[in-house]
Amino acid sequence: MRILYKDIFNLRYMTIILGIESTAHTFGIGIVKDGKILANVKKTYTTEKGGIIPTEAAKHHRENKTEIYSEALEKAGINEKDIDAIAFSQGPGLSPCLLVGLKFAKELSLKLKKPVIPVNHCIAHLEIGKITNAREPVMLYVSGANTQIIAYSSNKYRIFGETLDLGVGNFIDTFARLLDLGFPGGPKVQELAKSGKNYIELPYVVKGMDISLSGILTNLRQKKESGKYTPEDLCYSMQETVFAMLVETAERALAHTGKKELLLGGGVACNTRLQEMCRIMCEEREDKVKLFVPENSLLVDNGAMIGFLGEIMFKKGIKFSGKDAENLDINPRQRTDEVEVSWK
Ligand code: ATP
Ligand code: FE2
Repeated sequence: MRILYKDIFNLRYMTIILGIESTAHTFGIGIVKDGKILANVKKTYTTEKGGIIPTEAAKHHRENKTEIYSEALEKAGINEKDIDAIAFSQGPGLSPCLLVGLKFAKELSLKLKKPVIPVNHCIAHLEIGKITNAREPVMLYVSGANTQIIAYSSNKYRIFGETLDLGVGNFIDTFARLLDLGFPGGPKVQELAKSGKNYIELPYVVKGMDISLSGILTNLRQKKESGKYTPEDLCYSMQETVFAMLVETAERALAHTGKKELLLGGGVACNTRLQEMCRIMCEEREDKVKLFVPENSLLVDNGAMIGFLGEIMFKKGIKFSGKDAENLDINPRQRTDEVEVSWK
């Protein structure tokens, strides 16, 4: 058999990275080989009523991690010995949950004798967007704890606008709890909103490229308690108002930066009404902005995005072994614009 130069190149650079996600409600393992996702297995802690209890979520992760790991290896069709490095979510997130991921990464590193790569969870949500072929986008990152309009420039992801109080996902989940919908509330609110008929006026709070949600939450609570409005109309009106605020700030960032691409990231971006509103805005702009939306399994928390960014970092030599790996810790409060993006 003749070995081509291309094959030697592939053999040298083909890497298999395992990604572990455990920042909050989801424990996920992804396996990525040369930018391709071989497996993306996850299990999410949910409740019928009430919000997330960090220690309970951590217990959920400890109880499920081994099974998820085996399932991911099986789905990817690889042996654990094929793994070149283990990437894990270092932060931001809930400490008890982050610790489960860190410990698991260290255990695997010792067992397989492979290095560890600490990954910032928020930046993984953004970098996975590359899979859609977006090149230089403005990013609307809308997840549980985070709501930010971001663009990359000179080694950092710069934040152009953000929420001044609640993350939009946490806001929607709290609103859903008022309506006794359980956690996570986003998908249930989206369903109810489809049957909403009457638009109820709500506060609309945009300050430049920032938004604020706590006043709207108080207003929604009062409206719910008044008993005058149906849950369907409240869900519909909430979505129309809050998503219009997000679209307005994203458009302002596009105009400000002159960029021609909008990329959505984070769990709230699964919302089809938000996607539709973004699409309309992009199409109506004179400079015809293109919208990019990764598939839902890559928008919510998942291990594949950790493996995906882990691989990019690994190929730039960012990895920790031996004592350096042992000394790695979690970083529950790490901010997106603090991270030096040395791999671009
Ligand atoms: P962060 O990335 O800020 O740490 P997270 O990890 O909690 O937050 P994700 O998994 O990215 O967040 O997103 C979870 C959020 O997405 C939840 O608040 C959930 O309600 C919301 N969500 C999921 N699907 C939808 C939907 N269809 N509509 C609106 N919100 C949704
Ligand atoms: Fe997330």
